[in-house]
Amino acid sequence: MQRTAKLAAFVLVFSLPVQARADATDPVLTVLKSPTCGCCVKWMDHLHDHGFATAVEEPQDLADRKAQLGIGLRYRSCHTGISAQGYVFEGHVPSKFIHAFLAAPPEGSIGLAVPGMPLGSPGMEVGNRFMPYQIVLLNKDGSSEVYAEVASAADQFSERARQAQTGSE
Ligand code: CU
Ligand code: CU
Repeated sequence: MQRTAKLAAFVLVFSLPVQARADATDPVLTVLKSPTCGCCVKWMDHLHDHGFATAVEEPQDLADRKAQLGIGLRYRSCHTGISAQGYVFEGHVPSKFIHAFLAAPPEGSIGLAVPGMPLGSPGMEVGNRFMPYQIVLLNKDGSSEVYAEVASAADQFSERARQAQTGSE
């Protein structure tokens, strides 16, 4: 019986911090970033709030890694998320679109990108300011197409997430 109690205490202590960040069943994105990037951490917080867990890598050769992953110069941003299946999510891509992509990855694509760092995208919040932007679908052959237009801050969140947000305010 004592053993059970000890085990329970162990599980409690070691599962709480993880639970606070993300569910154990959440898909994991490996995030490549520089050690000093603040907006990268904010983007990861957004992911944790919306059904993803993260693992961080801070490679010295970040640009080389992006090139190896097939992310062209003009699509690059501050960080790169990589799914378990090897799909890439470059820059401040809202979790809503990562979920949609992973549910049905378009044939011949390697992932999604939000080039640059649009004001008001997840992790780039400055008050209520918002700059409309596009989410770009990156193809294996180096080409790209528009995956989604994000015209307003609300477009970045699913109906359910929006309700949860307004409900908690
Ligand atoms: Cu950034
Ligand atoms: Cu970043």
